[in-house]
Amino acid sequence: MKLEGKVALITGGGGGMGGAQARLFAREGAAVCVADLFADKADAVTNAIAGENGRAMGVRLDVQSSAEWQAAVDATERMYGPVSILCNNAGANFRVSFDEQTEEMWQLIIGTILTGSFLGTKAVIPSMRRAGGGVIVNLGSLASIRPGGASPAYGAAKIGLVGLTRSTAASYARDGIRCVLVSPGHVDTPFLRANAPYSPNDARTSLDNPDNYQRRLAATPLGRLQTPEDIARAFLFVVSDDAAMVTGSMLTVDGGAGL
Ligand SMILES: NC(=O)c1ccc[n+]([C@@H]2O[C@H](COP(=O)([O-])OP(=O)(O)OC[C@H]3O[C@@H](n4cnc5c(N)ncnc54)[C@H](O)[C@@H]3O)[C@@H](O)[C@H]2O)c1
Repeated sequence: MKLEGKVALITGGGGGMGGAQARLFAREGAAVCVADLFADKADAVTNAIAGENGRAMGVRLDVQSSAEWQAAVDATERMYGPVSILCNNAGANFRVSFDEQTEEMWQLIIGTILTGSFLGTKAVIPSMRRAGGGVIVNLGSLASIRPGGASPAYGAAKIGLVGLTRSTAASYARDGIRCVLVSPGHVDTPFLRANAPYSPNDARTSLDNPDNYQRRLAATPLGRLQTPEDIARAFLFVVSDDAAMVTGSMLTVDGGAGL
């Protein structure tokens, strides 16, 4: 029970990685607010946690809206008390070249990943101060290490999180608030498989295409894609007191893909 007495707000909480964090944190004793753009996805995770006798509530949240952030933090605090853990998982991507990336795609990707994490941090800091401290985890990517040729907004957003994480860590260390970036490699989730509006995939990009699966597998020296649970265990370390002196840094959990 590493998170007894903690209150966690998890964005993208209805998704693969956010859902795995929510379930693991609840098993470790945290009360969890599962926040997602799609209320039905948040509710499915909340119901799974309740089925294991954990404590969880679901809220609909578009991380691009500061008003919705305020409402989510207020609802969580009313239900469970001040928020001590924030996980910024929500993301978006359009896997197209620079030529093909439109202004609308750019705005959605930057708005969800970078502005969304900034707004979440702003919204949760007063609550964390009331909690006497806290931990904010931003979700990076291989693009936080080596942004490449594809999807310029995704590279800009994920490398931007390196700066946001360091800025948050430096600004709030004296409040007992830590901030860490966790960067996964290739994780088997709907983000890389499904044709979601925030992350469209087709045969050219989806893991459902065996050629794409093999390409990502071959790029992972430890020999398998990561599971959402692999990443959730790293998040658990980062938000627990085991990482009490870890702040401003990046933890890469990529099976060696970034080497
Ligand atoms: N899957 C990978 O290989 C991989 C690798 C590195 C980083 N990431 C990052 O992980 C995140 C995606 O998580 P996942 O892989 O578990 O995929 P996922 O699609 O299962 O989960 C993403 C969740 O975010 C929610 N979401 C999307 N836009 C939102 C918004 N504006 N506000 C609130 N919620 C929103 C979705 O509804 C979904 O439930 C992204 O930040 C992505 O950059 C994924």
